Amino acid sequence: MTPPQPQGTQFKARLGVKGSNLTETVPLTPAPEHPLQAEIMLHSALINVMVKAARRAGRSLKRDLGEVENLQVSLKGPANFVTMADKRAEEMLYDDLIKARPGYGFIGEEGGTREGADKSHTWIVDPLDGTTNFLHGIPQFAISIGLQREGTMIAGLIFNPANEELYIAERGKGAFLNDQRLRVAGRRKLDECVIACGLPHIGRGDLDLSRAEMTAIQAKVAGLRRFGSAALDMAFIAAGRFDGYWERNLKPWDMAAGQIIVREAGGIVSGIAGDDDPLKTGNVVCGNEFVHAELVKILKPLGK
Ligand code: IPD
Ligand code: CA
Ligand code: CA
Repeated sequence: MTPPQPQGTQFKARLGVKGSNLTETVPLTPAPEHPLQAEIMLHSALINVMVKAARRAGRSLKRDLGEVENLQVSLKGPANFVTMADKRAEEMLYDDLIKARPGYGFIGEEGGTREGADKSHTWIVDPLDGTTNFLHGIPQFAISIGLQREGTMIAGLIFNPANEELYIAERGKGAFLNDQRLRVAGRRKLDECVIACGLPHIGRGDLDLSRAEMTAIQAKVAGLRRFGSAALDMAFIAAGRFDGYWERNLKPWDMAAGQIIVREAGGIVSGIAGDDDPLKTGNVVCGNEFVHAELVKILKPLGK
């Protein structure tokens, strides 16, 4: 097929059937504005530090993924796994981030809180978000690094080593996926929206409340998704792939980076009350302004 040739605003293409002289011109409407606009982000020194640390830990996770059946796994609670891969990645991230920014504090899912001399800066890190996916060889897991200054997120990074998708954002500088600028989806009708959520599992979460929430939302939307990594669920909001996301019982390291990446992509992030801080409440709702408000309207009364 001859590549589409621009003709005025309309693209036309010549379709030919191999070996015959049948040709036809068909109008092709130009592709709508894609959320990944071609705007390159020049990485700041801070983002370079985070990217370098994430890529090194990512190589370690990929190696471990290949050996997953030999990985030492322990249980932190029912179906709450931790592996040597999580711990190894966290130590690598700690070494690299603290070497680059001595004095910053560090909160990691596996190693807990490590105070620094500089009380205003704290790394909030999940070395492997989506451990259950990882253990099942499901390539939907990520490294999540957030940097908080005096209680406010100023930078975030989410990296899926399985497909090399790197999401970054810095306060006031926008959000990017592999250096392409991100914008949340613009859908304003719930019945066109794909919504992601977290689901309780054995020994974790309120099954009745979750069922009530899912029933209320399922009936109004085009699709519900449970992908198994809170950090990537939020990254997919920023990339305009999901229109909305909600989950309860999360920890700061699950959401810290996602919060600034969604906000820098033009999205709204809050707790389920609509105006509370998810890092404090442990529950989160996000999407564009319209979808966020619609989800809060449905979820807030159910959680009372
Ligand atoms: C989990 C994932 C999962 C979410 C859980 C988290 P982990 O993180 O984000 O999607 O539903 O609540 O704990 O344990 O794999 O780091
Ligand atoms: Ca997590
Ligand atoms: Ca984790």
